[in-house]
Amino acid sequence: MAILLDRERGLISLQTRNTEYQMKIDSRGVLLHLYYGGRIYGSDLSHTVCRMDRGFSGNPADIGATDRSYSLDVLPQEYSCFGAGDYRSTALAVEFADGSRACELRVQDCRIEPGLPVPEGLPAVHCKSEAAETLIVSLADPFSGLAAELQYGVLADRDVIVRAARILNRGETPFTLRKAASMHIDWQFGRFDQISFYGRHAMERMPQRQAVGHGRQSVGSVRGTSSHHYNPFSILCEPTATETAGLCFGASFLYSGEFLMETEMDAIGQTRWICGIHPDDFAWELRAGDSFQTPEVMLSCSTEGLGKLSRNFHAAIRDNVCRGAYAHRRRSVLINNWEATYFQFTGEKLVSLAEEAAGLGIELFVLDDGWFGKRDDDNSGLGDWFPNEKKLGCTLRELGERITATGMQFGLWFETESVSIDSDLCRAHPDWVVRVPGRAPTLSRNQLILDLSRKEVQDYLIERMSAILSDAPISYVKWDLNRSLCDKFSAALDAKHQGEFAHRYELGLYRVLETLTARFPALLIEGCSGGGGRFDAGMLYYTPQIWCSDNTDAISRLAIQYGTSFGYPVSTMGAHVSAVPNHQTGRVTPFATRGCVAMAGTFGYELDITKLSDEEKAEIRSQIAAFHKHYELIQYGDYYRLSAATEPCVIWEFADPAGEKALISAVSRLVEANSAPIHFCVQGLQPQSLYRVAIRPAGGGEDDTRILEGLSGAALQCGGLTLTPEAKEYFAWEIEIDRESGKE
Ligand code: DGJ
Repeated sequence: MAILLDRERGLISLQTRNTEYQMKIDSRGVLLHLYYGGRIYGSDLSHTVCRMDRGFSGNPADIGATDRSYSLDVLPQEYSCFGAGDYRSTALAVEFADGSRACELRVQDCRIEPGLPVPEGLPAVHCKSEAAETLIVSLADPFSGLAAELQYGVLADRDVIVRAARILNRGETPFTLRKAASMHIDWQFGRFDQISFYGRHAMERMPQRQAVGHGRQSVGSVRGTSSHHYNPFSILCEPTATETAGLCFGASFLYSGEFLMETEMDAIGQTRWICGIHPDDFAWELRAGDSFQTPEVMLSCSTEGLGKLSRNFHAAIRDNVCRGAYAHRRRSVLINNWEATYFQFTGEKLVSLAEEAAGLGIELFVLDDGWFGKRDDDNSGLGDWFPNEKKLGCTLRELGERITATGMQFGLWFETESVSIDSDLCRAHPDWVVRVPGRAPTLSRNQLILDLSRKEVQDYLIERMSAILSDAPISYVKWDLNRSLCDKFSAALDAKHQGEFAHRYELGLYRVLETLTARFPALLIEGCSGGGGRFDAGMLYYTPQIWCSDNTDAISRLAIQYGTSFGYPVSTMGAHVSAVPNHQTGRVTPFATRGCVAMAGTFGYELDITKLSDEEKAEIRSQIAAFHKHYELIQYGDYYRLSAATEPCVIWEFADPAGEKALISAVSRLVEANSAPIHFCVQGLQPQSLYRVAIRPAGGGEDDTRILEGLSGAALQCGGLTLTPEAKEYFAWEIEIDRESGKE
């Protein structure tokens, strides 16, 4: 059973295969957090709650006259409220009609429902109804009409708990939500490190590990998107936790907009962890009878280190977040024309690229920016989603048909949410643009954002895109967004409700995506925001892969894909082989190394293949053959980080979950003279089985291969393998490990 509810003792245990989460309803009805970690088999841990009279920690009136040891300021809670004696950062902050802001939530009732919640209009963790149970705890403020439901979906086999909250107004007068977090946990004991992921355009998701100290620390975004700058996935772990050992917790926010992830260690060393919509630009009015549903946070816990925690998220994102035909269907190897041509192309040039690509075994041709409106550079045309037939030399349908006639599928780029000032759409509908009336708007890439909080804007975009998708043979869309939001204001909201804009924008975006994915179920959408500026579990619900970064340099990608792998599986990371010198870094890397790194993603090409040498074309053929051969292992196998991305040689592994085979890639970042051997331990094998190991340069043939036979899984896991450093820049190895049949 996934949820144990002992009503008499007020004890609630959420049990997953390897973890347990425990809460207690105390004598005043406050929902306390008792425990999250490895299994404790339902034993009541309420004896661990320490109560004592603490100066300046106030006591509620109903108990304070007789018991000064009870204070919300120090009790470990599940969903704390601002203003009534808890001085830490809180989950909920409201402003009542009289201007007061104090509130407190006490449990009214608990119920268990089958399956996982389906929050309307928001991305959601999903599964077959019998695979999960949901606990719903109803709470209310004794002094107002404010009520809340805390939702805990328990996906036992995945070691996942899905948290969200619904805030309700059961009173007669409106109040305003100033903050409504999705997740809140208080640990009374233990020291933690926090691992968060910072970045910038073209260098996303760099891990930062730091001890949680006294005070508040946070990462978040007020950019209207989850952003390149901080990712809505983070980890708390024991300071001693490594890839293979230690207690770790991860939180992945299923939201693509403004978020805040906070940690706070209080004066007595307790740690609070909160995640939700960023409160800075949020104010949501709840009138009598209204409710507000927060987005979901997917939580997981591992007692076996960071690697296992990541694999929990990989499996859950692949199976329980991504949806649609392509969640599990084999995705095509693609070629994108962006770095090959940028805006300067003709229909003939595109067809020549497609013909060459088809001959090499590439399966999908993606036409990027510049095919519509007046769009020969990035200063105009966004919003005018009408094919530029003069530039293409034909209709979009004809172009699509010429490309599909080569045997390839055809894909198209959109930047649905943006608008150029120099566009017919902006001239026709100036009020559809996000900007503050009477104030000059902030430009970015010389463009503005459409007000997706408005239904008529959503409908227009849905219909315009539908017309194009129905007219031409399009099986893939790249959904881009190339600026952050600011000057947030909607011409359709009155002054009192402008604080709702950012979240309403998000709901509008999700409605557009939901409608299009339902209308075109066979379409694969790849998310993108100037690369990985909106790489989050919310987008993955609609777009099962996301362009990981505009930085296509293989060596930069080692770090970007490494950081991304903490929270997201390989099957979600768009990765391409591009030209050298690389357009972002100027670096020159071997073709084989670029293939090896791009293969740790959804795999494709982004260069002018008509300009490649015969040798490079042959390499493309063999890279595609290798990708097909290892597809299942790479996309669905267990992923292990065998080195940090800062090591001289970066090493990662895909292992078949049954331990039958593994594929390891190693890329040398830094060559030094007379350097130390490269050594690593393999993971995920059967200890007593014997394996054959084939070590070769990436893309190498049988002649270059070194074979080791009869090595036990235990030997490979404990004794490891050694590579001899090569005096060559950015050299890559590929190591295939197969169980020797019939040998134990
Ligand atoms: C940013 C994307 O990340 C690129 O791949 C490309 O599509 C450009 N936008 C086009 O403007």
